[in-house]
Amino acid sequence: MEPKNSRREEVLERLEEAGGLRPGATPSVHRSTGIPAADIYGVATFYHLLAEPDIDVRVCQGLSCHLANCKSLLEDFQGMGLEAAYTSCVGRCDLAPAHWRKDGKLATPAPFLGSIGEERVFDLDGGDGERYEALAQALDWGPDRVCQELEASGLQGRGGAGFPAFIKWNAVRGQAETERYIVLNADEGEPGTFKDREVMLRRPHLVIEGLAIAALTLGAQDIYLYIRGEFEDCRQALAGAVATARRRGDLDDSVHWHFVDGHGAYICGEETALLEALEGKRGLPRLKPPFPVEKGFRQKPTLIQNVETIACVPAILRKGGAWFRALGTTEPGTKLYCLSGHVQQPGVYEAPLGTPLSALIAAAGGTVGTLKAFSPGGASSGFLPARQLDIAMDFGSLRDAGTMLGSAGAVLLNDTVDMVEAALVQAVFFEDESCGQCAPCRIGTRSLRRALESYLTQGRSSGALDHVREVAWGMGEASICGLGQTAALPMTSAMKYFPEEFGL
Ligand SMILES: Cc1cc2nc3c(=O)[nH]c(=O)nc-3n(C[C@H](O)[C@H](O)[C@H](O)COP(=O)(O)O)c2cc1C
Ligand code: SF4
Repeated sequence: MEPKNSRREEVLERLEEAGGLRPGATPSVHRSTGIPAADIYGVATFYHLLAEPDIDVRVCQGLSCHLANCKSLLEDFQGMGLEAAYTSCVGRCDLAPAHWRKDGKLATPAPFLGSIGEERVFDLDGGDGERYEALAQALDWGPDRVCQELEASGLQGRGGAGFPAFIKWNAVRGQAETERYIVLNADEGEPGTFKDREVMLRRPHLVIEGLAIAALTLGAQDIYLYIRGEFEDCRQALAGAVATARRRGDLDDSVHWHFVDGHGAYICGEETALLEALEGKRGLPRLKPPFPVEKGFRQKPTLIQNVETIACVPAILRKGGAWFRALGTTEPGTKLYCLSGHVQQPGVYEAPLGTPLSALIAAAGGTVGTLKAFSPGGASSGFLPARQLDIAMDFGSLRDAGTMLGSAGAVLLNDTVDMVEAALVQAVFFEDESCGQCAPCRIGTRSLRRALESYLTQGRSSGALDHVREVAWGMGEASICGLGQTAALPMTSAMKYFPEEFGL
């Protein structure tokens, strides 16, 4: 491990070593880093895993786990005398109701993997035997040709925004500054999403090779892998892949690999909040511009890429950009879709980008009960009614439908589900995970959650919801980052498609 750039960057690691926010931790980290104790306290309280270190078991209260009766699981753990509490999402929606133990012990069945179509990029159940031929190809081709191939592939970011990858690569290359960084966003925390987890566990070499290609192409010497704290097994798989590749001579020592743990803050999946966390601070999203490609980690040009995105790169170089582009139906490539909630076989499904949810559900053995609604791409995407099941699950089509593909974490709801309660579950999530930096989001998320609770407790009188549309508008217009900008969508979309449940 390379030394940190500053004592500030050590803060989170030191707090983790101290066992979180325990008596004596703040002064001890202050002594070792020189950072003021109040500042350290502020950082520690931001991260759930550091702020509440004595919780033995965290029970997920995300939507899929809510549907699977997480309340009773929590009561079971409490009945066993364990310190158990709800948490936002543990990235195991396929195994709902899910929990995470701080001792790392997990008793979970093997996740399910499925696919549609002949050709795949990931082949998640197909082994991981590559010998980094794509990295050798990149060395042979040089940066111009690699970026051309990436452009030809049409690869869009899989972390949520769908931004063309080649534009970011070219932007970093175009910077005059030669100190550059590559950052892997493996903080996967959007409720409904667990695809990056399976890529890291089953195809870690694709991730490592993709990162090495990025570093070579963009002239970066350091690669940071920011992995959510609950994914210890993923971290081990990636670290093991680096060690194996080095031993086999597939990787040389020209880049430094830095593995960094997340500490349980969903907002740190937002790329600039992630950079703040890497720099040892509270994960408050930055104002953009400047974008990370220009001023990212340590204010230097930085490529931040999602796990699934970067893991597509080796196949693109091996088989060609045109091959990748042709894999999709409406947009380029295959996509890893997550299915959870009221579906017979929850799991990760690789399918051509643009495959409708109806086809994915068929591959998953159908729904449990009669489908009423679905959330196409994680909590931030809101809800659509079952009649829109044939819409292409791609970035453009879902954007046109007023929602988003996001992280492609589809949650299915059958006709037993109360849409007001479903909207409330999402509202609680966003309130809990708002970083609190800007007023529209900090106050808006609380206000929406309270309005829904009042509506439910006051005999479903629609007066309780009088101001929610104005609040939602303000959040969408004035929030700094995507969390606040989309947090009202579950409620506004549920009101739009199921007005009778909201007394409208
Ligand atoms: C609130 C919020 C949470 C996010 N969480 C994640 C995440 O867990 N993983 C991820 O890759 N991207 C996440 N993103 C998107 C990132 O900000 C960024 O767009 C992405 O890492 C870029 O990589 P990509 O182009 O490969 O998708 C999130 C964005 C927002 C607004
Ligand atoms: S929108 Fe919410 S999460 Fe994003 S910066 Fe503002 S307060 Fe933080």
